[in-house]
Amino acid sequence: MKQKHNERGVQRQHFGGEKGRDGGGARCSWSLDHSQEAWRTPQDFLTAPSPAGSDKSAVAMATHIRAEDRFFWLVWQFGVTEASGTMLRTGMRLLALALCVSAGGDFDWTKNEKTSFYYGTFPTGFSWGVGSSAYQTEGAWNTDGKGMSIWDVFAHKKGKISSNETGDSSCEGYYKFKDDINLMKEMKLNHYRFSVSWPRILPSGLRSEHVNEKGIRYYSDLIDLLLDSKITPVVTLYHWDLPQVLQEKYGGWQNASMVGYFNEFANLCFERFGNRVKHWITFNNPWSISVEGYETGEHAPGLRMRGSGAYKAAHHIIKAHAKVWHTYDMKWRSKQKGLIGISLTADWGEPVDVSNQRDVEAAERYIHFYLGWFATPLFHGDYPAVMKEYIGTFTLCSGRKSGQQGLGASRLPVFSPQEKSYVRGTVDFLGLGHYTTRYVTQKNYPSGFGDSYFADRDLAELVDPKWPDPGSEWLYSVPWGFRRLLNFVKTQYGNPMIYVTENGVSEKMQCTDLCDDWRMQYFREYINELLKAVRDGVNVKGYTAWSLLDGFEWDEGFSERFGLYFVDFRNKNKPRFPKASVQFYKRIISSNGFPNQREVESWKRKAVETCSSSNQLLAADPLVGHMEMVTEIVVPTVCTLCILLSAVFFMFLLRRRL
Ligand code: BGC
Repeated sequence: MKQKHNERGVQRQHFGGEKGRDGGGARCSWSLDHSQEAWRTPQDFLTAPSPAGSDKSAVAMATHIRAEDRFFWLVWQFGVTEASGTMLRTGMRLLALALCVSAGGDFDWTKNEKTSFYYGTFPTGFSWGVGSSAYQTEGAWNTDGKGMSIWDVFAHKKGKISSNETGDSSCEGYYKFKDDINLMKEMKLNHYRFSVSWPRILPSGLRSEHVNEKGIRYYSDLIDLLLDSKITPVVTLYHWDLPQVLQEKYGGWQNASMVGYFNEFANLCFERFGNRVKHWITFNNPWSISVEGYETGEHAPGLRMRGSGAYKAAHHIIKAHAKVWHTYDMKWRSKQKGLIGISLTADWGEPVDVSNQRDVEAAERYIHFYLGWFATPLFHGDYPAVMKEYIGTFTLCSGRKSGQQGLGASRLPVFSPQEKSYVRGTVDFLGLGHYTTRYVTQKNYPSGFGDSYFADRDLAELVDPKWPDPGSEWLYSVPWGFRRLLNFVKTQYGNPMIYVTENGVSEKMQCTDLCDDWRMQYFREYINELLKAVRDGVNVKGYTAWSLLDGFEWDEGFSERFGLYFVDFRNKNKPRFPKASVQFYKRIISSNGFPNQREVESWKRKAVETCSSSNQLLAADPLVGHMEMVTEIVVPTVCTLCILLSAVFFMFLLRRRL
């Protein structure tokens, strides 16, 4: 999951620089070749001029960051002063060194080697799928009676999205869903995760005002065709596209009334689709909705209410989830026999020094402020103790931020005893999204720092320069973190039923190489860690690769590609081209895991055999697009001219006759 901003809440800027790219035409690579880098010294980071509206972390991100310097960058973004820079640099050099030396050691979730590969298969019936979301892929933003969402409005504001791109047409999934289901059938998928756009079926957000039957029809047809194709629909109710009217009238998730409105919308979905849909996800990644929507403002609705907005939004989201679960439980469950879950996304946080208690606690805080913020109320009825302690008002120890800031009450809202029992136990299955890992160390923030979700945690995040980083700046490939996170969920929340609802990796827009060995490697290793977790006894029932198609990557626009299928956005028909990872994933699915070394080792080679022909097709695509444009524009124009000329000629003949 992306956690790319620094804790001052400064939005990341785009400087067109690339991280770890080769200079080749396709602009793709798996990891940094440090010997080839134009290295920058830490001093460059500390003295580089800040572009307007940015900060030094942003400058650092825009460059090819030298391995060791990444530590400096991350620490720098956590608010060090220039005066402390030199000391810090020396310290961090030692830390980087220590980390590299100790890389062979293992944290204690399991005794196994971090890097060993496990050959074996998943339990029978394990479900394999891919995912997407409405705003990222559907397009048709103002078609067939759809209302505006906060993302439609946000993306249309200048300066909010990379290159000012919008999801107006995106992959045109609204028109091409039949083609997309054919792609899924070819992959022999068991399930497809997609989201319903709330304003597509309730344009003003409210059922009492207007139900858009055309929107209902679209999702109904999609569900029917999936079922006809033997693909189970897994439906997310909220993947971030709140009806704009609800934002304008009530302030969106800042307002408690959203709980009732969301419940009405969910109830309508159960009523219309629930006879066929048995797996519901209320919210996708509420961490992102809260923090990026209401703390840093990088995402719609773009509000920067530091230190309070995110906590309030999260509070209402948790209550809204619980209300929908109760509605389903009371009204629909006995008839429809479905399950209600939520999809939480979290990184794993590993202590920098496992023998240092402060680092171990900092890493635990990292996860509790991420996953536990939502999971702990839903499984245990209240926020994690550590969040209540750190954000709260008790002032005798360090931490206790609200108290130190002279506030009478905690910035973290409080659940009443009734609310605690209402939210507890409202998860039939836990959806888990996971992409990456961070090293975590203790770092105190002075009370003068101001209100901030990030400062409340009292920690700093670091990355190992050796971690591969093919695409998004925040996404480092650290497969072993996945197994640890899964085991954490097992022990903390009583081994709930888990569906992995998102896992995948991106490459940059400029990368047009369909032979995506970095993605095959990522899937191979992450899915293998998942298999190990299943063997550890974690109750995982399914896996969803993110994502089916390249799509609109939120504030990154189309600059990052997560798809198994490449979408040629230059061509208005948005054709899809399989990347090699399609074949690779297909083999994992058909073998239900990794049967034996000989076979698994042949998969990559076989997948790569198919992608060179796809590369050729893609290379020819601008030409095809051009020819289509010619047929679409030139042919009708010539026909119209012919008709006009014939009419003129006919009139001329008539006049001569008269
Ligand atoms: C979001 C996806 C997004 C992915 C990668 C997830 O947390 O749910 O919509 O594509 O992150 O940024």
